[in-house]
Amino acid sequence: MTTRFTGKTVLVTGAGTGIGRAIALAFAAEGASVVAAGRTATSLDETVALIEKEGGTAAAVTADVSRSEDARALVRRTVEHFGTLDVAVNNAGVFRGGGPVADLPEEDWRALLDVNVTGVLFSLQAEVAQMRDQPTGGAIVNIASNLGAHRRAPGLAGYVASKAAVSALTRAAALDHIADGVRINAVSPGPSATPMSLRPGETDADRATRMKSVSPLGRVSATAEIAAAVLYLASPDAASVVGSDLVVDGGAAA
Ligand SMILES: NC(=O)c1ccc[n+]([C@@H]2O[C@H](COP(=O)([O-])OP(=O)(O)OC[C@H]3O[C@@H](n4cnc5c(N)ncnc54)[C@H](OP(=O)(O)O)[C@@H]3O)[C@@H](O)[C@H]2O)c1
Repeated sequence: MTTRFTGKTVLVTGAGTGIGRAIALAFAAEGASVVAAGRTATSLDETVALIEKEGGTAAAVTADVSRSEDARALVRRTVEHFGTLDVAVNNAGVFRGGGPVADLPEEDWRALLDVNVTGVLFSLQAEVAQMRDQPTGGAIVNIASNLGAHRRAPGLAGYVASKAAVSALTRAAALDHIADGVRINAVSPGPSATPMSLRPGETDADRATRMKSVSPLGRVSATAEIAAAVLYLASPDAASVVGSDLVVDGGAAA
């Protein structure tokens, strides 16, 4: 067992499901105390139970990251639980299709920007405020997408715009705060093994068939493969990696 994060406190937003849960489990398996955050207490409690079953340490904190007061309270409660905030992973996000730009519902556009962009901004603000006051600083990894800065697809303008903003915000924040001792990067996953990558009515088997034609690798990424990239960027191995946006998508955006 590797222990790159022993003694470290790691906050993961959107940790009750999918990629966020895999990230939370991976950090805990490498020794971190993990705060699992999101809006739904039951799914966060399941993540905590999975971590504790493996002998790890975790706490659940409910928060809506699109509310600045929640983002600040989340960091405050993380420090109350475990004394510090060494790593934060801003993974919480929503997906909406919506059709072509001309028909994109205002409600979908606002929901995508509220959570995917403003949620990441509020999270960064609260996390950096804590980390820059710590002698050891910190590392932050934002979860963007290969759909955004790296590639586009029809009918997904709102999602694509929101995730391109996460990629740009990551680089801007990295430049602003590396002098504060806070190292900020992004991971941009491609289709991953969670319901978010399923089209309406599609089964896992349908998606596997579709992936053979659209992904050079020929399959979706496992959530553990996304988590591995996040852990690398958060680790001392990446000490000189600042403002990068690591695409993990089986070559779809190559
Ligand atoms: N799966 C893919 O193929 C794929 C590809 C590229 C990028 N991504 C990105 O990867 C991240 C995780 O996606 P996923 O596939 O694991 O989807 P998911 O299972 O739907 O996870 C999203 C998580 O975000 C949480 N969340 C949503 N709105 C929130 C809010 N306002 N405040 C706090 N938490 C919130 C959700 O929990 P609650 O609803 O309980 O709050 C949920 O746990 C997202 O940012 C997504 O855009 C996914």
